[in-house]
This record gives sequence, structure tokens and C-alpha cells, in this order.
Amino acid sequence: MFYRIKILFVICCLVVVACNQSNKKSVSSTLNFAEHIAPIIHKNCSKCHMPEEAGPFNLISYQDVSRRGKLIKYLVTERIMPPWPADANYSHFAGETVLSDEEITMISNWVDEGMIAGDTSKLATPEQLKTELNLGKPDLILKVPHINIKGNNKDMFLVVKVPYEIAHDTFVRAIEFVPSSKKIVHHMNGHLVQFTSGKKENVYIGKSYVNQDQVNSQHIHKELGLLNDDGTYPTLTPSVSNYLPGAYFSFYPKEIGGYKFLKKGALYLNDMHFGPSSVDAIDSSYFKIYFTNIPPKRPVSEFQMGTLGIAPVEPFLRIPANEVKTFHIQTTIPNDISLISIVPHMHLIGKSFWAYAIKPSGDTIPLIKIKNWDFRWQYFYQFKNLLKIPRGTTIYVEGIYDNTAQNPFNPFSPPREIYERNGSMRSTDEMFQLIVTYLSYKDGDEKISLENAKP
Ligand code: HEC
Repeated sequence: MFYRIKILFVICCLVVVACNQSNKKSVSSTLNFAEHIAPIIHKNCSKCHMPEEAGPFNLISYQDVSRRGKLIKYLVTERIMPPWPADANYSHFAGETVLSDEEITMISNWVDEGMIAGDTSKLATPEQLKTELNLGKPDLILKVPHINIKGNNKDMFLVVKVPYEIAHDTFVRAIEFVPSSKKIVHHMNGHLVQFTSGKKENVYIGKSYVNQDQVNSQHIHKELGLLNDDGTYPTLTPSVSNYLPGAYFSFYPKEIGGYKFLKKGALYLNDMHFGPSSVDAIDSSYFKIYFTNIPPKRPVSEFQMGTLGIAPVEPFLRIPANEVKTFHIQTTIPNDISLISIVPHMHLIGKSFWAYAIKPSGDTIPLIKIKNWDFRWQYFYQFKNLLKIPRGTTIYVEGIYDNTAQNPFNPFSPPREIYERNGSMRSTDEMFQLIVTYLSYKDGDEKISLENAKP
């Protein structure tokens, strides 16, 4: 309710601004923090810029914002903050955080006019703003093994195993990741490995984690003890839990999702990224697991296009030094499906990413456009409603890589040839993927909203 009121309030302000376009000066001269700016900041910035969240400082009170006014004006005008790489003029997603042009103008004018405070006595406190959903008590907590983080200001990319053993098979509705520190844990992609009865004696053998620089995708399961005792691969359910700053955990609507949870298994975090830290620390992230008696009715499936996926990158992903090069992936979908989310994935020298689908009728379905790829902000873009992709539709993906010295994210100076190396996940090698989670289509799926589902 609280949020609804705020959103309405912002809309009212915008209407006032819009109606007075011809008379902009007189309206903007009345801008003050309490009435006009705080609602925008609280809706779009505070979720990361509050205690214990990913942002480096709070952005809640008048003091928080006004002391950084010029920098904020610059970052919002350049659309660097809030971080949302997807082009909101191209496609929309659940929970997207994007400022409208009007909101940017309001912040900018307010800064230029000397940042008038207004009556700040009734503004929300950090506690009131804390959006953390109260999802009730989890049925099981699985702790990530203790990982030592060195205070050497370097990124750390790990592959991690979180094994478990429970009394009997059950069903799971959702798995929520709780990072120990949102300032250090940058992102995490988790999959579920399950051992059928009799296939695995001890789920706790093998290494707990391995630095990604030291692994090759082909051997990693063995090193972590994630193979059956006879050396075969156990079942893997992809992407059961994912985390990125700003991407809040949410349940799927009750009619979709869920997993069978066998007695023995492990969460397999193939990508756990810790950002640079200046102090030594021990990670204490954990997972909250919510059981249910109800078997999953419509399990979520996933496919990957591109590197390690169902359709190749064309031409082979090799970017010569000092070149900007374009690559494509395409695949035709054999059955009607409903898309839940898409994840564009590239590494450091990615420059832009574009995905769309063309139906047999010739109509285009825009999926996502990222004009300025940013390695640090790789969201799971979940659609607002299930999105139907009819059979015979072809999904096209285009990725441009910039391996010149002009690319500030180029890991090599001078530039060196960079390519896709045998499934290597090292950030200095490249990957090009579109990861798609979906359901097989059912009549009426288009009406199923993926926003704000409750436990
Ligand atoms: C999804 C989380 C998230 C949201 C939403 C967000 N920020 Fe940030 N912000 C960060 C993080 C993390 C950093 C640290 C630098 C980085 O990683 O880019 C940051 C850095 C900043 C900085 C410091 C930049 C510098 O160069 O020192 C400012 C100022 C800022 N944000 C303002 C804002 C404003 C204003 C908004 C809303 C309009 C906003 N942020 C929304 C996560 C967020």
C-alpha cells in the first residue's frame, strides 16, 4: 500500500510537470526534495543505497542526496544509475528500475536550483523503506562453505558446492539466496544436483570450492565430488537460485515452478563472484529452502543458445586484437513455449547485445536490447507476464565485442586476441550466450503475471 501511494504521487507530480511544459520555469522553481525528489530516489535508488545493501552509501535522506547532488545529476542523466542495461524503449521486464525522462529532468533541475529541502519531517526512514519481503520461516537452511576472502582488492570467481542430505524426498517451492554481505558478494548462479537412491554414498566428499581460473568446465564436477559413484552425471536442474545486486528474490506464481528434492544432493554454484574487498573476510552466505507438499505442476525448463548451448555462435567466437566484431546465434523453437526470463551473457569486452524473435507470420517479438554492455550488471530479466513464443519462431541474437584499446573494460593492454576457450569461464576469455527459462505453453499463459507473486 505504502508503495502504491508513492507511485501514485510520482505520477501526479509528472502530470503537473507535463501539463506545464510551456511554463516549465515556474513549475521547476517549486521543486523540493520532500515532495518531488524523495519519491523518485526512494523508488529507484534506496533499495540498493541503504544499510546492508550493495550501494556504497545510503541515498534516503535529504543530506544523503544533496551532498552528492552534482554526481547524482550526472549519473542519472547519463543513465549510469540506477543500473539497468536493458533499453526500456525496446522491451519491459518485471521490477525494472528505469527513470523516465521527466524524472531525470526533475532531479537535474532540482540540483541546478540549489537543492531546496522542503518539509522533510514526514519522509520515510530506512526501516520503513526496507523492502525485504517477509517470506516466513524457511524449512531448511543450507550454508555455503566458509570461503576466505582476501583483502587484496581483487575480484574472486569461484565454483562452489553446497551439499545436503535430508530424511526423505520432498518438493521445494523456492530457493532463496542470502548473501553474507551485499557489498562483497556480487553475483551467484545456482543449480541443483540430485543423486538418485543408491547412486552416491557420501555427498560431502570432494572439494568445497575451486577458483574459476583453475578449472575447466569438463572436469569441475569430478573435482567437487558431484558425479555419481560410478562416474556418471547425476540429474542437474538448472538455475534454481540466482542472485545479483538489485535483483530481489521472488516466488513464481503458485501454478508454475517448484522442484522435486531428493534425499541426497547439492546446490552447485557454477558462478559465485566476490567483488574486490580491502579487508579479509569470511563469507557466510546461505540458502533458505521452502518445502511444499504439492508436486510441481509445471516445472521450469531452460536452454542456452551460444557457448556450450543448443545453437553455435557464428562465426566461431574469436575476437582479434584491435578489432570490433559481430557474432550471431539463432535457433528455431519446435513447440509453443512461454518465456519466463532471459539472461544475456558475455564477459569483459562485450559491447552490445540484442535478441529478438521472428514468428512464422513474420511478426517480430522484441526480447532485449543492451546498447552498452556492462559485465557487472547481468540481470535475470523476467518478463512482466509469460511471453508466448509460437512453434516455428526463430530467436536471433546479435553480440558485438570490442577488443580495442578504446574499450575501458579490455583486460589486456595492449589488446590480445580473445576467444571462447573450451568452455572456460575465465572472465578474460569470452562467452556469448542467451539463457532462456520457459514452460511449455498453455492457453491463457499470456495473462499470468510474473510480478509480485506471494508465497
Ligand atoms: C541495483 C542496485 C542499485 C540501484 C538501484 C542504484 N544504485 Fe547507485 N550504486 C550501486 C552500486 C553497487 C554502486 C557502486 C559502484 C558500482 O558498482 O557501479 C553505486 C554507486 C552509486 C554512486 C557513486 C558513483 C561513484 O562514481 O562514486 C552514486 C552517486 C549512485 N550510485 C547514485 C544512485 C542513484 C541516484 C540511484 C537511483 C536513481 C541509484 N544509484 C540506484 C547500486 C545501485
